[in-house]
Amino acid sequence: MSVTEEIKQRLDIVDLISEYVPLKKSGRTYKGLCPFHQEKTPSFVVFPDTQGWHCFGACATGGDIFTFIQKREGMDFTEAVRFLAQRAGIELVPGSEGGAQQAEVRSRLRSVMEAAASFFVAQLASPAGQLARDYLAKRGVGQAAIEEFRLGYAPNAWRALSTHLLADGFSREELTEAGVISEGEEGRFYDRFRNRLIFPISDSRGNVVGFGARSLDGSEPKYLNCPQTPLFDKGKLLYGLDRARDGIRQSGTAVIVEGYMDAIAAHQAGYRNVVASMGTALSEAQLQSLARLAKRFVLALDPDAAGSVATLRGVAVAGEALQTESAASFDGGLLRFERRLSAEIRVAVLPQGRDPDELIREDGAAWQRLIAEAKPVVDYYFDVALAEAELSDAKGKVRFARRLLPVIARVPDALERAHHVERLARLIQVDPSLVERELAAVRRNAASAPDRDGLDGLQGGRDDSGQGALPEAFGPEEYALWFLSQNGSALAAANEALASLGSEPLSEADFLDPANRALFEALAQFGSGGRLALRSALSGDLRRRFDWLESAGAGEPEASEDYVWHDGIYACFFLRSRRLKHEARLLQLAQEGEEDQAELRQYALAVDKTRRQMQVLTRALASRSLLKAKE
Ligand code: CTP
Ligand code: MN
Repeated sequence: MSVTEEIKQRLDIVDLISEYVPLKKSGRTYKGLCPFHQEKTPSFVVFPDTQGWHCFGACATGGDIFTFIQKREGMDFTEAVRFLAQRAGIELVPGSEGGAQQAEVRSRLRSVMEAAASFFVAQLASPAGQLARDYLAKRGVGQAAIEEFRLGYAPNAWRALSTHLLADGFSREELTEAGVISEGEEGRFYDRFRNRLIFPISDSRGNVVGFGARSLDGSEPKYLNCPQTPLFDKGKLLYGLDRARDGIRQSGTAVIVEGYMDAIAAHQAGYRNVVASMGTALSEAQLQSLARLAKRFVLALDPDAAGSVATLRGVAVAGEALQTESAASFDGGLLRFERRLSAEIRVAVLPQGRDPDELIREDGAAWQRLIAEAKPVVDYYFDVALAEAELSDAKGKVRFARRLLPVIARVPDALERAHHVERLARLIQVDPSLVERELAAVRRNAASAPDRDGLDGLQGGRDDSGQGALPEAFGPEEYALWFLSQNGSALAAANEALASLGSEPLSEADFLDPANRALFEALAQFGSGGRLALRSALSGDLRRRFDWLESAGAGEPEASEDYVWHDGIYACFFLRSRRLKHEARLLQLAQEGEEDQAELRQYALAVDKTRRQMQVLTRALASRSLLKAKE
């Protein structure tokens, strides 16, 4: 847990703010006079459920305990963390200022991983690696692929790797933290991976951050991975992304398979735009990292229902809390992703009993066809529902329609929706107008349930990086900041685009990550002075973050100016629409328990206004018409 999370867990926002502002309970929220502007009726609301605050009056901004203290005490982010840490009784590592030390630890761990990877590679080439080499040969993996993916072998011994790394000067603690050894009883330890084929897992820049290891003798588990470490979060990484970047960019498509071997087989056969999700459900962070490179994704799914449902559920879950079983796969989660990432997602279902790995080796043409003919998401949902449907009686037809209506309701394009309505009507043999009516009801319901849609963007984007910790991913917030810092007039341009849609200029409240907020504030002040002025105005963690953004940005597609411009403004729109959704939801919450009729009317008006703005923005995001003008 990061320091900021820990502080948030220990302090209650209502207690904290009550010391500055008298608060009155009102339904699920607390209200008071805003401490940041003059007012007579309370428009300052504190939300115990989300541990946030918001001023719906003149400030029109909000945040968490850190932003409150920053504003109220006139502190910067680091000072606010220190202030609140003390209150929470949490000791910050002295002298480290958090960030520098974390960076040091990470860089040390990277060295451990690199040394371990080299060791495994050498072992594979050694006499001890004979069986592993035979196995690879049997599975058709050639020498070039072995080298490209840096495949290795962990020898059949208790302490081969650890002895080697300890001799290299790494400490036992470092080996533990890197996840390459396991602790036994009485202080004993041994290598985590023994007699296994090693797949080094890299981040998108090619640094080894973890290992996957396949057993060679049929022992269980078949695959063993590094545990979660400061470097390794399996759920956020995609195997092979460092090798696939160019291929994805060039083809405009990212193909997502499940397994290590699948990705390697694809690359070996020249399909260079393939990454592996490593067996788990796809996460938003994973898709996010692809969305920067391409706008078309193909999921190559296992035909057995379990696999497909799991994948779909994973995607849905990124946006909301776990729901029951297969129902969740039908909430149109993938469609929501398409909209949020403005990407097109297609699904290719593999023939029964075939892995991509096998298919590619047996019949490359079939693989190519499969990917080329991947179906749009809605068609895939239709297929899955059809396979399980009983359309012979009325009840079965109703069930079938009920599963698909919420999916169709999420399709942003009216013509496309009409097409699916038509198809559904034909399948259950009723008049399309009837389906149309049902669909309208579903859409109305969805619109009046802001909780679901409101939370949506928020959770995906939330990445509560600890004090000074660098961002995990180059997500929309990071991209927007990078874009805005590249050009003195970018902020003005983004604000102009927002203004043309009737939306306010960007503000720090559009960012969720406190460190990103702080960076935005600095940027708004120094932006017009250019990057160097901005950089010299930053210190410590913020400067490190800025430098990180610069280098991450440099790894972006060697874009034309237009492309960067397009994506940058797009990212700003995204942040704004996410914020509006969030605010509509907060307003809704603030209404609950309010008895004053005049107040209620005010809230209703505000919700309405927020929704309207959101719609305009959402439409602009979907159509991208405004942006196309720039292309
Ligand atoms: N996986 C994992 N840990 C597990 C099981 C699976 O990390 N305990 C990941 C691996 O990336 C694996 C992928 O999920 O490659 C798919 O798993 P599975 O279908 O079981 O294996 P295959 O990739 O088909 O493995 P192989 O072809 O080597 O038998
Ligand atoms: Mn396989």
